[in-house]
Amino acid sequence: MKISTEFSKYAKEYAVLNQIQNQVVQKLLSLYKKEGKNILDLGCGSGALCKNIEWDYEHFTGVDFAPGMLELHPKADNIESIYGNFNDKTLFEHLLANHYDVIFSASALQWSENLERTFTYIKSLQTPVALAIFTANTFKTLNETAGLQSLLQSAEQIERLQKKYFDAHFEVVHYKLEFESVRDMFSYIKRSGVSGSRQVLSFKETKKLMYTYPLNYLEFEVAFIVE
Ligand SMILES: C[S@@+](CC[C@H](N)C(=O)[O-])C[C@H]1O[C@@H](n2cnc3c(N)ncnc32)[C@H](O)[C@@H]1O
Repeated sequence: MKISTEFSKYAKEYAVLNQIQNQVVQKLLSLYKKEGKNILDLGCGSGALCKNIEWDYEHFTGVDFAPGMLELHPKADNIESIYGNFNDKTLFEHLLANHYDVIFSASALQWSENLERTFTYIKSLQTPVALAIFTANTFKTLNETAGLQSLLQSAEQIERLQKKYFDAHFEVVHYKLEFESVRDMFSYIKRSGVSGSRQVLSFKETKKLMYTYPLNYLEFEVAFIVE
């Protein structure tokens, strides 16, 4: 398992809402050395991946289950964004009718109800993958300080699982996002949508955590799986 570290300094809340996701997209595209003409993006969100592709492609299909995200996705004759749920086999049965050169997914599959099941669905499309998945070490110190268990799978679990389905380069990257104030940091956690913890803290507990959290940055860990 290759381990890399990247660092973002002095993040301001609004500007950084998607900063880590954007870095993940950049990293994923840098690991993907080809120029697939027909592209599928699972959990496409508002189109970070689509917006960052620099080669000429024929068709881009973004899939997401959040209509509000699909509305924000770029649209063009060769770009479609469709409703679909990657927990649902029928999505993949529908996708089988098309040919794709690559299946991307950035910062989304950590929310799969059952990652192994989603991997089997992805595998059924018989297409090379380029996936980036947040792991359990995301918000590691925060979860430890609060006594919370991450809902996400560890890098080791994801590595074992991906080996069963793909013949891929596997790399784990650590990101740190530094904040000027604890208030900015907690506001970011609430808004970013990358939190891997159950929302079980009361207002009082959250306040206590804000005083006891020992770092001025948040930790993220992302597993990259690229064929
Ligand atoms: C953190 S965002 C990442 C968006 C985009 N890929 C990016 O890199 O900026 C995660 C996205 O996954 C979508 N998502 C989560 N679970 C999903 C599911 N079961 N099926 C389809 N999309 C899902 C969310 O709606 C959200 O748009």
